[in-house]
Amino acid sequence: MSELRDALESLRTDASARVASVADANALAELRHELLGRSGTLTALLKQLGSVPAEERPALGQLANRVRAELEAAIEARQSALAGDDDDAWLAEEALDMSAPGRPVPIGHLHPVMTLMRDVREIFHAYGFEVFEGPEIETEEYNFELLNIPPDHPSRDLWDTLYVAEPGSVEAGNPEPARDETILRTHTSPVQIRAMRALEPPIRILMPGRCFRHDAVDASHGFEFFQIEGLVVDRDTSLADLKGLLEEVARALYGRDVPTRFRPGYYPFTEPSVAFDIGCLVCGGEGCPACKRTGWMTILGAGMVHPTVLRNGGFDPDEFQGYAFGMGPDRMTMLRHGIGDIRLVFSADLRFGTQFPAGH
Ligand code: PHE
Repeated sequence: MSELRDALESLRTDASARVASVADANALAELRHELLGRSGTLTALLKQLGSVPAEERPALGQLANRVRAELEAAIEARQSALAGDDDDAWLAEEALDMSAPGRPVPIGHLHPVMTLMRDVREIFHAYGFEVFEGPEIETEEYNFELLNIPPDHPSRDLWDTLYVAEPGSVEAGNPEPARDETILRTHTSPVQIRAMRALEPPIRILMPGRCFRHDAVDASHGFEFFQIEGLVVDRDTSLADLKGLLEEVARALYGRDVPTRFRPGYYPFTEPSVAFDIGCLVCGGEGCPACKRTGWMTILGAGMVHPTVLRNGGFDPDEFQGYAFGMGPDRMTMLRHGIGDIRLVFSADLRFGTQFPAGH
């Protein structure tokens, strides 16, 4: 009985001394294992507790617990002391030169596409436009049907659209995942419907965001890209307003002398539809490979909102008219900076990004 007490007491003193003299963290871990581990000294002593007379057991048990707590505290204290020693060693070796110049901190800046999108936003802000955002994951209904694009329209072909598979529907060996009507939006036009359903006229909004298409990637196509959609719904808007606005925006973005032109276009959700071109920024209008020798570059599609789309948005086309436009900020950025390959725009290559410090 008092043998066990003696053993515990001597563990207490011996072990404390050993902990205090340990020189590094590894040795300390080993010592901890030896003293407090599952087959360590203290555990071995505790096993003897069963063979002492019952009336002495509580006191010895308490002593054992105290010894464990003390040793643990001592080991922990030694551990932080050792860590502190390491810090000091590092500090001692370090020569501190107070006169050395500071390390330059690299300061990042916006991606050129973001810069362009902010510029566009600022320009439209001056004309009273607000930003309205919609989801990147859409339904076929919003992306197509409500925009007057019937199911057999070519743009609904699986080739263009990325479908969102049901979770767990892609089975091993099955190349054709089950799909439902959930898709990644192929353009920002579905936000027109969402906005019309959420807002009251007069509506003057800009709807920027990322879009996705099932396109083979090459110098002028990515499978993801940005669009900035615009929408105005009011009682007395006309194609003349749209033309005047877009001409002013082109001047603000590309300079007062930039030539502009409108061409007839086709979109199921606008009628009439137009394409808006600016004079080629590379050749100045003479014709070059960049503009396919036409002297012009198309920067957006636009038109008067189709009556069916107005109705789908909740408006009576006899009372309200609207115009809409959709531009491609990636392409507009490429034009602005003379970038020849869209893949650069989406790469994460800093050698590309750092060439366009803020502002331009
Ligand atoms: N959504 C069209 C596209 O992706 C662009 C557009 C928007 C055209 C609005 C007219 C009006 O090409």
